[in-house]
Amino acid sequence: MAEEPFVVWEERYSVGIQIIDQQHKELLNLTNTLYNACRKGDEAAKTHFKDVIHSAVEYVKFHFSTEEQIMERISFPELAPHKKEHEAFVKKVLEEVKNFQSGKTFVPNQFVRFLRDWVLTHIAMSDKKYEEYIRRTKKTV
Ligand SMILES: [Fe+2]
Repeated sequence: MAEEPFVVWEERYSVGIQIIDQQHKELLNLTNTLYNACRKGDEAAKTHFKDVIHSAVEYVKFHFSTEEQIMERISFPELAPHKKEHEAFVKKVLEEVKNFQSGKTFVPNQFVRFLRDWVLTHIAMSDKKYEEYIRRTKKTV
């Protein structure tokens, strides 16, 4: 089965910080890899999905810490609620991973849709706020 992109990066997702844009692209790549892993639907795919989901969780944590460090550095006033969104997301993902591992109530397709929608909404609604703040205050990252 040919691999298809499930979600494609668009310039409008840019938050004007190169390292963050790169990491957001990587998050979308991981979502695509997970999508393709769960399309196959056999045992090998399951193992593949398991590997990818672990690197995805690690990458998400790494990305959030990069972002939080930047927000701290620029004294972004909405750091606390932003951090809470990150925490809630990590918690939800870890719960889903647990469901996946125990073999209950886990629907891979639903999970990748959730990942895509969360990442894109979070960029558009929350990450764009620090972009706006940086532009307004003319701070350097
Ligand atoms: Fe964020």
